[in-house]
Amino acid sequence: MKPKIVAYGRVREKARIKLSEKYEVSHFNNGEDLSNEAFKKAISEASAFIVVELEVGKDMLDHAPYLKVVSNVSVGYDNLDIEELTKRGIAATNTPDVLNDTTADAIFGLLLAAARRIPELDQYVKKGEWKGLLSETKFGVDVHHKTLGIIGMGRIGEAIAKRAHFGFDMHILYHNRSRKPQLEEKFAAEYRNLDQLLEESDYVCLMTPLTPETRHLMGAEQFKRMKKSAVFVNGSRGHTVEETALVEALQNGEIRAAALDVFQEEPLFSDHPLLKLEKVVTTPHLGSATAETEDRMSLLAAENADAVLEGKRPPNLINE
Ligand code: DGY
Repeated sequence: MKPKIVAYGRVREKARIKLSEKYEVSHFNNGEDLSNEAFKKAISEASAFIVVELEVGKDMLDHAPYLKVVSNVSVGYDNLDIEELTKRGIAATNTPDVLNDTTADAIFGLLLAAARRIPELDQYVKKGEWKGLLSETKFGVDVHHKTLGIIGMGRIGEAIAKRAHFGFDMHILYHNRSRKPQLEEKFAAEYRNLDQLLEESDYVCLMTPLTPETRHLMGAEQFKRMKKSAVFVNGSRGHTVEETALVEALQNGEIRAAALDVFQEEPLFSDHPLLKLEKVVTTPHLGSATAETEDRMSLLAAENADAVLEGKRPPNLINE
């Protein structure tokens, strides 16, 4: 009998087909939880979970006695209770690196869209409101030669810095748990503490993982420190920001605009206060969402799960 794997969420077909050569794969893609009998049965028999954004904690694990590995199809793993998994001797893995450029493209796209008001002006054209020379009330702000502050200079932060420095001649500031001398040299980047970075940047790009230390890293006090002309971009996780403080900062003109790919609650509900603000550009957590990159992530997640089930060290083990 083949060992069983539960694939949850948008685990790509390529990876599921590859896994089916050795494993029996059940795929769930409709937000199933423990109240769903078929899902509950599948996890009670599974040796591996390969998951996109599924919360895996004590409750779920209590129903999964044969589980050896939870393979996350993302670089962030705030959806996994790592302490609980480690206590139970279950491996946890993620998919770093393969998504760096794709995510950096998306985040840079958001930054440009907010600066040049692209979604707003797209609507202006489509609604037939473009009647003559563009009014100066519709002008945006420059990106090139401005100062970009990156909070969280990990691998995606680095890919953003590369675009900003080489493509847009931006001055790079960064804040991180540790200094990165190589990147300082490569991008002429300068380290700042958080307050200084917020005060000096024209664009603030938040790219940290969600951890107890980064939860609500950006609140009322931090938005007040930013320049009134600055744009805030969030490509990390929704809970790194106090959303009510962000709404107030935008409403009170404490910052110019925000471009957001992640939210405290996803999907974002349709009458969320952020959606009422023209100065806000939103995307539906699409950082890594291209067909090529999602294939690479799913295949890497499959490789991680397979390695553990074969008794080998997986390439991207989170809990040593
Ligand atoms: C990640 O990999 O963490 C991205 O946010 C996609 O979920």
